[in-house]
Amino acid sequence: MMMKKRPFVLSRLSKLIISSSCSFSSVASGLNIALITGSTRTSGPPTVLGPRVNTFIQTTLEERGHTITHIDPKEFTLLQKPAFAYAHHGKAPQELQECQSILQQADAYVCVTPEYNHSPSPALMNVLNHFGSSTFSFKPSAIVTYSAGQWGGTRAGVALRTTLSELGALPVSAMIHIPKAQEVINRDGSIVVTSEANDEEERWQKYCSRTFSQLEWWAVAARNHREVVDPFDESPVFGKAPSQRNAP
Ligand SMILES: Cc1cc2nc3c(=O)[nH]c(=O)nc-3n(C[C@H](O)[C@H](O)[C@H](O)COP(=O)(O)O)c2cc1C
Repeated sequence: MMMKKRPFVLSRLSKLIISSSCSFSSVASGLNIALITGSTRTSGPPTVLGPRVNTFIQTTLEERGHTITHIDPKEFTLLQKPAFAYAHHGKAPQELQECQSILQQADAYVCVTPEYNHSPSPALMNVLNHFGSSTFSFKPSAIVTYSAGQWGGTRAGVALRTTLSELGALPVSAMIHIPKAQEVINRDGSIVVTSEANDEEERWQKYCSRTFSQLEWWAVAARNHREVVDPFDESPVFGKAPSQRNAP
């Protein structure tokens, strides 16, 4: 069995919250967003930061009116056989099929990764590598990075752009970087308030809004156009082995 038997990620499915006071919801409400995270550590030192960052990002997206499904790398074994390798050799394991279905139904992807040795989390890469570009293609993605240090995982973010581009989940230009995440986000996912102005939450939401607004614009545009033109008509899914590709 490739993966653990526990019902896959669906237990973490979040409910759609559309606030009637959320003016944005009229523009891009109801996006299905797959939130793919990268933290698997369970104890420090250094202090584990992933869960608080994931909660902050998930809550922020929900408050913008979206349905979030969390894809947790802890649910995966190390890559043995990717989903696309089952196409001609029987069915993929149930859990893998369920995850693929979530990814296929998503309008957009948000990847949240810590920076490990200037790279994205290998656990996040492991999740992505289980699926081919036909699962992700013609949809936008957004990158969120964090670290305990002052650069907020920017190097991991830049590296992750290449992978998401190859998968066809085109990363929007803006990224969210959270330096010293232990000083910025409380364990419950709320923003730490230290200033007299008490405006940290507002400032972080404004910062996140730049990236998520881009994501929403592209996701709505792609979703609308998918209804008119099948993107795979002109750019079919790979039917050849990698050794035979990229030649006329
Ligand atoms: C294996 C490993 C490598 C790390 N490499 C970096 C790094 O390259 N840059 C950085 O800013 N922080 C680095 N850190 C510190 C992380 O930013 C910090 O531990 C953070 O909490 C990691 O996220 P996590 O708690 O979700 O695992 C590293 C931490 C670990 C465990």
